[in-house]
Amino acid sequence: MDEVLEKVRQQFNYGPYPRHPLEKSPKDDREFLWIHDVTTPYYLRYRQRPPQDLVILDAGCGSGYKALALALANPGAKIVGIDFSPNSVDLATKRFEFHGLSNYEFHVLPIDQVGELGLTFDYINCDEVLYLMPDPVATLATFKQVLKPLGILRVNVHNQYQREMYFKVQEFFGLLGLMQDNPEEFELKTVQEIMGQLNDRCELKRITWSKSYEGELNDQISEFILMNCLLQGDKGFTIPQIFGCLEEAGLEFIEMVAWPKWRIKSLFKDPENLPTVLTLALEEATPMEVLHLVNLLHAGERLLDLWCGHPNAEPTVVSQGQAMVSLHPQLRNETVQQAWQSHLQGGRPLILSDYLKFPVQGALQIEKVEIDAIALGALWPLFEGTQSFESLLQRWLQLYPRDLLTLEPVPVEIARTMLRELLLFLEQSLYVLLTVE
Ligand SMILES: C[S@@+](CC[C@H](N)C(=O)[O-])C[C@H]1O[C@@H](n2cnc3c(N)ncnc32)[C@H](O)[C@@H]1O
Repeated sequence: MDEVLEKVRQQFNYGPYPRHPLEKSPKDDREFLWIHDVTTPYYLRYRQRPPQDLVILDAGCGSGYKALALALANPGAKIVGIDFSPNSVDLATKRFEFHGLSNYEFHVLPIDQVGELGLTFDYINCDEVLYLMPDPVATLATFKQVLKPLGILRVNVHNQYQREMYFKVQEFFGLLGLMQDNPEEFELKTVQEIMGQLNDRCELKRITWSKSYEGELNDQISEFILMNCLLQGDKGFTIPQIFGCLEEAGLEFIEMVAWPKWRIKSLFKDPENLPTVLTLALEEATPMEVLHLVNLLHAGERLLDLWCGHPNAEPTVVSQGQAMVSLHPQLRNETVQQAWQSHLQGGRPLILSDYLKFPVQGALQIEKVEIDAIALGALWPLFEGTQSFESLLQRWLQLYPRDLLTLEPVPVEIARTMLRELLLFLEQSLYVLLTVE
């Protein structure tokens, strides 16, 4: 095995990541489940809902917390987790046992041998791993080989511009020999000692360190130091570099995972009125160039976290079906339903974005998505499941039969337009999904 990779293996075998206790569950973390729900990228790419019976690979699954999120966000899916650290795989297995799951398998296996499983996947989650790999293009190509034709791959790498100071920290401690062998208690304590004794105005300390990392070495502090100051094999990428890797591996970019944070408009005081030269440049720019501009202006994200897939993948188009409407599965839960019901019965608008910020959270501001009581009433059946547009329209007409000013009956075509506009507005943030089925 490559020397650096062996150091990575030892590091994560010593301290499996993340160090969440077994009993901790992401079941109520809607934002986290939203990211791990295959519906989100599948709909973004294909404007369809994903198939049932998904087979999902968590590549470099660590202690299995994100694999657990994948299982909870995609009920019925089979989860396959691989990691080359036996201690991590052991913890991941225990985590799934603890939460009473059954449709899973975990293997101690290096990523470049994933083909040996003889499986192909609808979704591959490779979170916080690719920046550790000696040859990221080769790793991406390996994933491509086991990705189904319409499959989606999530990968991320460290953002060079955001993380520059930690690369300096790693270089500094590397020069002191702390990353020669697997960093354990002695190395961790040495980092604490040196950082603690540095003058607080020292630039590297000011940006990368906090008093809360000093004191007794607990799990949280150890994890922070290992994952940032002494991370073996860590590398940073720019947007053009990671796009170059995708291209070399024959993969096509779909979208950034936190896509609203990558909208250039959200960096400006008046998003609807950008400077002319920029507006003209944006008209010509590729998606990669726009992302690069955003990252140069505001490198707020630690990860360049994206979804990609086979180039030009096209799902079968259903031409004969009817227009159907669904709530995003991560909104179909008890908390949202209760709030929806109480606002609807109280005749008050609901700020939907308070319950799920992720799809509207820009880099510097959050957009507000609010729906009025008539809309809440009209869309209420979506909590039971997917509905046809026409059945929602009938409900809309019952709730809003007359023009509120003239008291004349609202013509069906006007009601149809109003409902369509409402749904298209909600679809922009993927709160509702519009499909032909
Ligand atoms: C930072 S942790 C991320 C764990 C998990 N994906 C998460 O985000 O919570 C990186 C994991 O990748 C695993 N890993 C790194 N390189 C690997 C490789 N070549 N084959 C298999 N696992 C690998 C490490 O053992 C470690 O558990």
